[in-house]
Amino acid sequence: MHPRHVLAALALAALAAVALVAAPTAWSQDDIVELKAEAFGTHLRPAAVFKHDEHNEKAGLDDCARCHHYYEDGKLVEGQDSVGTPCSDCHALKGAGGQPGLREAYHRQCKDCHVEKAAGPLACGECHTGS
Ligand code: HEC
Ligand code: HEC
Ligand code: HEC
Ligand code: HEC
Repeated sequence: MHPRHVLAALALAALAAVALVAAPTAWSQDDIVELKAEAFGTHLRPAAVFKHDEHNEKAGLDDCARCHHYYEDGKLVEGQDSVGTPCSDCHALKGAGGQPGLREAYHRQCKDCHVEKAAGPLACGECHTGS
């Protein structure tokens, strides 16, 4: 390549890098209306409906760590959350020791609270009604 072309190519590459970094985040939690974790691969059921912000407002949940809990060395760390880390990063498909596998993790978190508060769906067909 001619040196001038190399420079032009470098300049373009630098511009592309800046554009990538500056790109706005495409979505946030208020865009979440249902859950369909990729980690499951093929899904047996339709997605589970979960309108993130609307759900949490109605249920009066303002502590993010209630669901996005943070663990270190198997111990729950109070006052810290794992917002931004998918459940599947920590919960493998199959559980181990005291740690529930991915499906059980979702089910226990969702259903335990619905039972405790005597509110919210408990039947398969009430949650798995998404796409
Ligand atoms: C309170 C809501 C809720 C209820 C009730 C519920 N689920 Fe789920 N389920 C979820 C969520 C959330 C996930 C994880 C998101 C996803 O589907 O990928 C999930 C995941 C799954 C998965 C793994 C993903 C897949 O589709 O293969 C299966 C299988 C499943 N549920 C079956 C059931 C069955 C059977 C019942 C009834 C006995 C049931 N669920 C009841 C919320 C619920
Ligand atoms: C009732 C449980 C619950 C509460 C409370 C909650 N979230 Fe979430 N949130 C979820 C679930 C479930 C997902 C999907 C995560 C997954 O499937 O890996 C999610 C996803 C997200 C995501 C998308 C990226 C990610 O982490 O996967 C963000 C961002 C987020 N929540 C922020 C928040 C913030 C901020 C709060 C507190 C103001 C909060 N959440 C409270 C359950 C909850
Ligand atoms: C930073 C890693 C991490 C993330 C992210 C995480 N978990 Fe956990 N979770 C753990 C560990 C470790 C345990 C095991 C605790 C034990 O051994 O008693 C656990 C335990 C659980 C339990 C059983 C104890 C309880 O709190 O009822 C449920 C249910 C659960 N997780 C659901 C979820 C769901 C749903 C998400 C996503 C919204 C999630 N977890 C995200 C690490 C994580
Ligand atoms: C800490 C408690 C808590 C957790 C965790 C929780 N829920 Fe709920 N949920 C509620 C309460 C309370 C209601 C009833 C809200 C009302 O209508 O007053 C509810 C209602 C719902 C409804 C009915 C429609 C709506 O949005 O109000 C759906 C669907 C639902 N929950 C799905 C889920 C799923 C899926 C999960 C797990 C990812 C989950 N919930 C986790 C407390 C919880």
